[in-house]
Amino acid sequence: MADAASAAHPIKLIALAASLRRDSLNRRLLTQAVLAARAHGATVEVHDFRDFIFPAFDADVQAAAGIPDAVQHLGNLVTASDGVLLASPEYNFSMPGNLKNTIDWLSRIRPSVVRDRWGLLLSASNGRVGGNRGLWHLRVPLESMGMMIFPDMFSLALAHEAFAEDGTLRDPAQHDRLAMTMNMFCGAVRRARA
Ligand code: FNR
Repeated sequence: MADAASAAHPIKLIALAASLRRDSLNRRLLTQAVLAARAHGATVEVHDFRDFIFPAFDADVQAAAGIPDAVQHLGNLVTASDGVLLASPEYNFSMPGNLKNTIDWLSRIRPSVVRDRWGLLLSASNGRVGGNRGLWHLRVPLESMGMMIFPDMFSLALAHEAFAEDGTLRDPAQHDRLAMTMNMFCGAVRRARA
């Protein structure tokens, strides 16, 4: 719930689901996470992953033409925020290749655009592990770039059965777990800002 602390220390987050699929489960989960973050007083700007699909990284292209405008735009969005909510599918026990390519391009901007920005990783999968193995892989490049990835991650198992018609999580325990994770994350970002 938004309170005096959130009014005194407003935080700005950006949110991204790293799936192109129209009915993406990760986008549905992200939507619930965004609503919970807003309930805790955060300003959240939701972005479309389609805007951040870049050509396969090629160091020769960078040497010849520098950082593409679309990559710099994403970098500017991250730098202007206090943190990022990133929901990612697990592909073959790891992160999707197009997300890794986006991160690789982003990592070429100097100084690091993600340094001292907070990140919360979420995943949804129709499997029983909820995509959590992919998130452990995703932490590595982001932390290597200086991002502060929140220790807790939120993975939603059997996600194809998890959402009600109105998009909320059917299971009250899952709903409460997400609300608690968002509360703790927003609190950590707010304390770091303060
Ligand atoms: C998957 N999926 C999957 N799920 C999982 O739990 N562990 C895995 O390793 C994989 N691997 C995998 C590879 C590839 C290439 C695809 C296309 C899918 C299933 C995946 O998590 C599921 O399709 C999710 O619904 C994808 O996320 P979105 O697009 O619904 O957000």
